[in-house]
Amino acid sequence: MSYRIEWFDRLPSTNAYMKECFYQNSPPENGTVFATRDQTAGRGRSQRRWTSGPDTNLCFSLFVETDCPLIEVASSTMAAALGIADYLNGRNIAAAPKWPNDVLVGTRKICGILSERVDVPASRGIIVGIGLNVNMSSEEAAAIDRPATSMLIESGRAGNLSRTLEELIPFLKHWIEQWNAGGFSSLRNSWTEKAGPIGKPLKVHDGAFYKEGTLAGFGNHGELLLQTSQGLETIWSGDVS
Ligand code: BTN
Repeated sequence: MSYRIEWFDRLPSTNAYMKECFYQNSPPENGTVFATRDQTAGRGRSQRRWTSGPDTNLCFSLFVETDCPLIEVASSTMAAALGIADYLNGRNIAAAPKWPNDVLVGTRKICGILSERVDVPASRGIIVGIGLNVNMSSEEAAAIDRPATSMLIESGRAGNLSRTLEELIPFLKHWIEQWNAGGFSSLRNSWTEKAGPIGKPLKVHDGAFYKEGTLAGFGNHGELLLQTSQGLETIWSGDVS
């Protein structure tokens, strides 16, 4: 898969704009990346907002043509998280993927990922939307309602946004291509090694439930397997702490 990056000065949301292009009959090609220097209404998982100041962080969406079954869509965020974590590790930032769609440094989030399915007559695939905190300051991070960090905070060095995007694309390409060819099960060992360890205590919750247990592993499609006192539970979505 080759990539083509298109930069926009300002967009409400790179995911929303890319999706719109499919429904307005100008479908982006496989490997198209839409990136913006100023995202004004970024979307996160569970209807949350994703905030980023202008010219501060990377906000971009990548279109991946795929026939993967619906059940496999969510695990594309896990493939992308492996790519981002590898890229950051190569820059001496001790980042690790966190189920289902984050990359953390310790307990602080440095990257969030939101995948959305596209299924129109002309194209079938997923939009992988990535928000990577590059130049967010400690003051800006402290204003976010959850613990957050950035490459600047972790390394002390400011990054050029377009260079950072160019550099990290090969890492994304590697893991997303592997995911597209073999599904989550082809990444499971690498994911478990980096996002584990098996047996670690977890609290999992969303609006509807709260469960405690230990990590038993990940299923064929990226679902989390939680060992609780009631038995083994399969969790398809939620927040983990
Ligand atoms: C999350 O952590 O809940 C996911 C956040 C995803 C944010 C990115 S920024 C680029 C792309 N466009 C959006 O509107 N959202 C994603």
